[in-house]
Amino acid sequence: MPDTYDLEALRRVEFPWTTRGDRVYLNHASTGPLPMRARAALAIWTDWRGEPWRISDEMEFEVMDRARTHAARLVGAAPQEIALTTNTSHGINIAARCLPLRAGDIVVSSDREFPANVYPWMALEREGIIVNQIACTPAGLPDEERILAALERPRVKVLTLSWVSFATGYTVDLARLGRECRERGIYFVVDAIQGVGARVLDAPGCNIDILACGGQKWLLSPWGTGFAYIRRALAEQLEPREIGWLAVRGSRDFNRLVDYDFTWHDDARRFEVGTLPYQDLAAFCASMELLHEVSVARIATHVRSLVDAMTTRLREAGATVLTPAEAQRRAGILTVRVKNGQRVSEQLSAAGVVCGLREGAIRLSPHLYTTREDIDRALDVLVRAV
Ligand SMILES: Cc1ncc(COP(=O)(O)O)c(C=O)c1O
Repeated sequence: MPDTYDLEALRRVEFPWTTRGDRVYLNHASTGPLPMRARAALAIWTDWRGEPWRISDEMEFEVMDRARTHAARLVGAAPQEIALTTNTSHGINIAARCLPLRAGDIVVSSDREFPANVYPWMALEREGIIVNQIACTPAGLPDEERILAALERPRVKVLTLSWVSFATGYTVDLARLGRECRERGIYFVVDAIQGVGARVLDAPGCNIDILACGGQKWLLSPWGTGFAYIRRALAEQLEPREIGWLAVRGSRDFNRLVDYDFTWHDDARRFEVGTLPYQDLAAFCASMELLHEVSVARIATHVRSLVDAMTTRLREAGATVLTPAEAQRRAGILTVRVKNGQRVSEQLSAAGVVCGLREGAIRLSPHLYTTREDIDRALDVLVRAV
């Protein structure tokens, strides 16, 4: 398979606004734009929704099944290991509420996690569970050596981390951390929203137990879409704490609903709670189909080359790049410290460049359709500002 794809056709067909040239969008770490095929799927399902007799139960089940299949492929898993969720937080809550934890048990994490991966664990402190947030390095990056050392304590039951840090783009070594967790019988929970779609992932190969991912960023999907990966053995055993009528075995037979067979699905569907937004799932499917069509491996190569080019030019200009230089340590986010973040952000905006401002630093996040010309437009402003 060649490493490249037809960028020009991709932009014209799926992201036609790029051809106007008035905006360079480098903020996928915040919100991914919907490709045309997702917008079409939303429009079609919304039309049908206006005349609901045009949507059958089978169509609803089909779109859910397809979404699980595409999501599974993104993380190297089986569809039976995927529960559809409405955001990342939902997946983290499945982990925090369903993993067997008792008073005195320890949950290890890093101290600058995005709050979606903090509060669900902090809430457990009321039940006597201890949350141990390991301080980041002086450079503000997760300190993997200290995290690994913290796993040696006897009551550690969970390690929960972001795959890719929202503020710095630092990408943890999932394979190593997962291996160390498995050897110690510690559950490994991952907030993967900033990585999935921009990098290839083998969740089972990395010994991840539960992974949470929203669709709204790198998956270019509507708000209210997302999924959780729950390792097969856990998906078959863990007791859901939020109870959905679609989570049980007989739920697809609408003629026998009041038989009340309270037997969980024998897969991750047991964690799905009630009716989902089918029109959004249709768009979620369309966007994931685009990612698979282009191939996440190729997207990762493309995004890496853009981040490489930005890193080189910014470092040459003497900028303080917070994102590590090693390719294995980053995904699609590049964060650079500037003297006056607010002012530089306004200058970028005046040049038509949309990027993020996080913790005082400029965050640039290109994706599959971003060109070298796009990033040059951002860099021209940034190198003047450092
Ligand atoms: C690391 C990380 N986790 C989670 C989220 C969002 O969580 P949710 O999908 O629950 O809104 C974000 C960004 O908004 C994020 O950067």
